[in-house]
Amino acid sequence: MTAQHPDTTADGRASAAHPPILRVDSLTVGYGAIRALIDVSFELQQGEFLGVLGSNGAGKSTLLKTISGLLKPERGSISFGGRSLHGLSAYQIPAVGIAHVPERRRVFPSLSVLDNLRLGGYKVSRADRDAGLEEIFGVFPRLAERRAQLAGSLSGGEQQMLAVGRALMLHPRLLMLDEPSLGLAPVIVEEMFAKLAQIHRDTNVSILLIEQNATQALEVIERGVVLSTGRVTFEGSRSELSGSDFLREAYLGI
Ligand SMILES: Nc1ncnc2c1ncn2[C@@H]1O[C@H](COP(=O)(O)OP(=O)(O)O)[C@@H](O)[C@H]1O
Ligand SMILES: [Mg+2]
Repeated sequence: MTAQHPDTTADGRASAAHPPILRVDSLTVGYGAIRALIDVSFELQQGEFLGVLGSNGAGKSTLLKTISGLLKPERGSISFGGRSLHGLSAYQIPAVGIAHVPERRRVFPSLSVLDNLRLGGYKVSRADRDAGLEEIFGVFPRLAERRAQLAGSLSGGEQQMLAVGRALMLHPRLLMLDEPSLGLAPVIVEEMFAKLAQIHRDTNVSILLIEQNATQALEVIERGVVLSTGRVTFEGSRSELSGSDFLREAYLGI
């Protein structure tokens, strides 16, 4: 259990008055002898839209799985809302307010859109669930039109929207998305990211977006952390990232 952190970050933003909602500290995670994350530290402020960018195999999914309690770190700590997540298992994480939209948008293909969303809200009261449904249908009218359709018959983009909608049914304080752009046409990715920006603006939920597609992600994130083969190699605002060589370094290794 960590106390409030009265320190400031390198860019001088965080303070005791605004402790980060998520704090990842010196995290090392491995699969047997393979180290997928090495000494990774970063913070996400309340209400922030943060990107974690990196190429294939950089350790992005490992990071989200560790925050979600699916993997246990070898070293380091994670705290959320000032409370350590140490020892919490994957089924306890949603209850603290963290929703994880996993890679490859897993939806229940043989259930309708509506039933997929209802399942996402299984932990909340009926009134909250109904209100949540209306909100989600407001953001994604295409899901409202297709509420009775089986999720497996939706397009890839629609399934991704459904996966996000299902996560929002929990009314999370932190929404984590693992490569929502994967396998989608650029125009659909643009639409998807515009929706994420809208959700962020309207609800002020904190967002952690994991992306290989840095160019598209930089359109929506406020700040980014770059992961290269398990290590943080760059951290900065959107404009700092846009003006840096991080893409070349992180993606081409030069
Ligand atoms: N279940 C696993 N067993 C062994 N190695 C794994 C496993 N999952 C991922 N890895 C390895 O860990 C590294 C990071 O993987 P991952 O977090 O999936 O990267 P990303 O999501 O950035 O593509 C890669 O080298 C990958 O091969
Ligand atoms: Mg991944």
